Amino acid sequence: MIEETLNIIPHKHTIQKLDRNKLNNHKSFVIWLTGLSGSGKSTIASSVERKLHQLGVRTYILDGDNVRNGLNKDLDFTSKSREENIRRIAELSNLFIDSGTVVISAFISPFEKDRAGVKSTVGTNNFVEVHVDCPLEICEQRDVKGLYKMARNGEISNFTGISSPFEVPTKPDVIVNTHFQTLNDCTADVMKLINQKLELK
Ligand code: ADX
Repeated sequence: MIEETLNIIPHKHTIQKLDRNKLNNHKSFVIWLTGLSGSGKSTIASSVERKLHQLGVRTYILDGDNVRNGLNKDLDFTSKSREENIRRIAELSNLFIDSGTVVISAFISPFEKDRAGVKSTVGTNNFVEVHVDCPLEICEQRDVKGLYKMARNGEISNFTGISSPFEVPTKPDVIVNTHFQTLNDCTADVMKLINQKLELK
């Protein structure tokens, strides 16, 4: 934490977000996917991105793999580090939104207050929360990355759902249930939610 006051005065550039939105012919915001590891966040993010891309929308996916391998490679999975992980991603999402891009962020983001922090950083109107819901037992059965097994064996600590909590979103904009809905249905539910918001010309 920096103690002294920094003399930072932001420069107001002439081209603004609205100019970029006009050039792109659509609005920019973040679609925030939250859910357990293995719930299907990245798969849905990819599918939604494909749909948007076909419509001519400028998009970018942020997820654990691309952010924790670079920008956030100094962070682990303690509550404190997760808080910092999500705080940085919120700021990153905000820059992408400012650039005119529709951001699809797929992070476990297990804590309500951290998700509320994202909403407050990007602004309520720029935040769409999607709960990618899937029972822990099913995520554990899928165990795509073999991490649940390692967590059960005590080889990984602070594992979400096993040794670290997941706070279920209380008021998400939409819930998709990947254990009984098809990928197409989940994608359609997200698209329905954002269709008007895009203001696609
Ligand atoms: S978050 O909780 O800080 O939002 P994030 O989405 O960035 O997590 O990263 C989650 C991914 O990291 C998981 O999908 C999994 O592949 C991997 N991972 C490694 N260790 C853990 C852990 N202890 N808890 C959860 N996920 C972990």
